[in-house]
Amino acid sequence: MDRRQVLKIGTAAALLTGSKLSIAQRAEETTDVVVVGSGGSGLTAAITAFDAGAKVIVLEKMPITGGNSQLSAGGMNAANTVIQKQKNIEDNWEIMFQDTMKGGKEINNPQLVEILAKNSSASIDFLLSIGGDMTDVGRMAGASVNRCHRPAGGEAVGHNLIHTLRQNAIKRNMDVRTGSRAIKLLVEGGKIVGVEVQDRHGRKYNIKSSAVVLASGGFSANLERVTKYRPEYAGFSSTNQPGATGDGLDLAAAVGAKLRDMEQIQIHPTQAAGSKILITEAVRGNGAIMINREGKRFVNELTTRDAASAAVLKQTGGTAFLVFDQNIRKSLKQIEGYYHLELCKEGATPQELAKVCGITDGDALAETIKKYNEYQEAKKDEEFGRADMPRPIKEANFIAIEIRPGIHYTMGGVVFDTQTRVLNESNQPIHGLYGAGEVTGGVHGANRLGGNSISETITFGRIAGAQAAAYAKANKKA
Ligand code: FUM
Repeated sequence: MDRRQVLKIGTAAALLTGSKLSIAQRAEETTDVVVVGSGGSGLTAAITAFDAGAKVIVLEKMPITGGNSQLSAGGMNAANTVIQKQKNIEDNWEIMFQDTMKGGKEINNPQLVEILAKNSSASIDFLLSIGGDMTDVGRMAGASVNRCHRPAGGEAVGHNLIHTLRQNAIKRNMDVRTGSRAIKLLVEGGKIVGVEVQDRHGRKYNIKSSAVVLASGGFSANLERVTKYRPEYAGFSSTNQPGATGDGLDLAAAVGAKLRDMEQIQIHPTQAAGSKILITEAVRGNGAIMINREGKRFVNELTTRDAASAAVLKQTGGTAFLVFDQNIRKSLKQIEGYYHLELCKEGATPQELAKVCGITDGDALAETIKKYNEYQEAKKDEEFGRADMPRPIKEANFIAIEIRPGIHYTMGGVVFDTQTRVLNESNQPIHGLYGAGEVTGGVHGANRLGGNSISETITFGRIAGAQAAAYAKANKKA
């Protein structure tokens, strides 16, 4: 019996059934589009290509679909959206463009950033139209406007997003194969013509396809690859799922794809100390401050991730504490998850909080919180110039989570163009090969802003799906 796995997701978990093809039949398999990877980019590309009339097969090497997107916490940046309008938030694509370029230290490809920002509102519409919930809006670091969209109450975005995409794949009865690793891109006459696959039992087979969308993610979970580019990150842990190893980059490089910015690896400032769990930037966005072991603030909490991480690493022990209160807790549902994981320490007073979490000077902590509340009330942070201070820190019990920086995102990847065509060393398209999501490089430059990853996956996933379907239609073998 054939072991290919077709996606059938009931609730949040993967329920899988085998397909009916024999091994001999598999040897002749053909389709229009193969999508490599089943995270946000892959499933979005697959659904879009399918809806454009293409026959699609999705390959996922891990035992479940969802990629790193399912872990995504903060939300999705988008400008001038229907949801922002409902909340009277003024924004436009130009400000999102500027924020993204500035965050990326201006080494981003501006044409790709323009695509990201201009299409972001339509990408929110797309998610709403297929059943997603993007009705809460908050601020992430480096953004000058509240544009990070997430589910109601400030829930983590990843679960809702992937659940929505899975349900849509099920509804369409799409062919999604888990435990199925793409091990080679097949080339004929200079064009990509399919994929060699290894199934969960180690058996290999080919799928002939007119187009391939590479949506295989980044390599933050591959410390060997990370330290090849950034030896100073030896010993860091990663916030990513274990499948984020970057093998898609090898597939692309083997067919001549050009890579860029590989050394641009993002360290996220707030991974819970002693764990792999990411504490979302939205906690700071909703009002938390960062405190060192001596009870003092040391950085603008909403500066970019690279600057915040560098500041944390300079503090005693290379860790710090996110400090907030019950009011901030109520504003963001994700925080209940951190309670569930026993990451939150509480104290009725700042002094008590300091005692339970090992901050050495409780009076300094009390003074720091008092001063911050004054800045918040006056809407002016005299010490660090933090622009957005949405809530004071007043409502006991006070809460702290110890954090340290962790490897979070790889900005580099395959060079691609505004039509998501993967380019070779001469900057020419590799015919039939498209890219979307973290496997690509150029959108985020030297530093990605929080909320721009999910934004990228949906916008470039949609473009890649549409382009691959159109290419397949035009290049279909008789
Ligand atoms: O902090 C976060 O929630 C991360 C979000 C992101 O990487 O976009």
